[in-house]
Amino acid sequence: MERDAQADRGYAHIPVMLEEVLALAPAGPAPWILDATFGRGGHSRALLARLGPEARLFALDRDPEALAAARALAAEDPRVTVVPSPFGALAEALAPHLQGRGLDGVLMDLGVSSPQLDDPARGFSFRNDGPLDMRMSGEGRSAAEVLAQSEEGELAHIFKELGEERFARRIARALVAARESGVVFTRTRQLAEAVAEAHPAWSPDRHPATRVFMALRLYVNDELGQLEAGLRGAVELLAPAGRLLVISFHSLEDRIVKRFLRREAQGEPLPRGLPVRGPAPGVRLRLLGKGQGPSAEELAANPRARSARLRAAERLVA
Ligand SMILES: C[S@@+](CC[C@H](N)C(=O)[O-])C[C@H]1O[C@@H](n2cnc3c(N)ncnc32)[C@H](O)[C@@H]1O
Repeated sequence: MERDAQADRGYAHIPVMLEEVLALAPAGPAPWILDATFGRGGHSRALLARLGPEARLFALDRDPEALAAARALAAEDPRVTVVPSPFGALAEALAPHLQGRGLDGVLMDLGVSSPQLDDPARGFSFRNDGPLDMRMSGEGRSAAEVLAQSEEGELAHIFKELGEERFARRIARALVAARESGVVFTRTRQLAEAVAEAHPAWSPDRHPATRVFMALRLYVNDELGQLEAGLRGAVELLAPAGRLLVISFHSLEDRIVKRFLRREAQGEPLPRGLPVRGPAPGVRLRLLGKGQGPSAEELAANPRARSARLRAAERLVA
């Protein structure tokens, strides 16, 4: 995770890689599309602008504020249906709306939105002080609860595996020692300062708490588990020739997306030497090019899009 995802999404909600998304997404009079990460609807609005009156757009999110924005759009545009759900459960959440019909497109623009990051009350950012929350849906354990309840080994594991933090063990030890001396971590700045104090290797271009915050955010929201389940659900729901587009923002996510798409495009490994005609069993997707990053023009206009990576694939006829 070589990039500072906190900084990456700091801009107002400019939809990332919009041109590339529009080039790959279905258009025309009547496609049915799922925006599985509605956010503030930047991508959704641009998609809707090229769709006809018979088209449908399902606006899914798990954040109450994003859902409020989706409901406002749905009130103006009868093609929009709001689906409050984590995308890890998208197949179940969409089933009643689809009634057997497949989707022509699914978009996942992963991570947190700028409005989430910029609102100190959500607790995602160490740049602005706020309660140590980090829950996208407002449900489940907050970051403060995870910090209060986890053993040193568990915290070290979270920081190392999800934040790729080299000094995970040392930081976990310092936080637990502070806890044992009566400190209760409740604020983002308070945690950032404690991590900074424990971190032995400051770098000029990254706050020393960046990786710990990233790790806690991924953990609190089970973002990688959600991604695995969301990808599986999306492929299930795609109609033949339907397209899956995923924008990721750091290497752990991108690795999951890349491996998933590769597996779906190559099928089950077969014993060597078997004469097989046509696609191997289990092949459900065709890759649409390799992963791509933002254009030079987009980077010039929005340098914080630099860590975005878009991967796309098309559902084969079952
Ligand atoms: C990067 S923003 C999307 C921005 C959006 N494309 C736009 O143009 O406004 C990601 C959104 O996905 C939502 N999200 C992240 N993980 C989710 C999950 N597992 N289930 C549902 N929504 C999720 C977040 O709440 C956030 O609103």
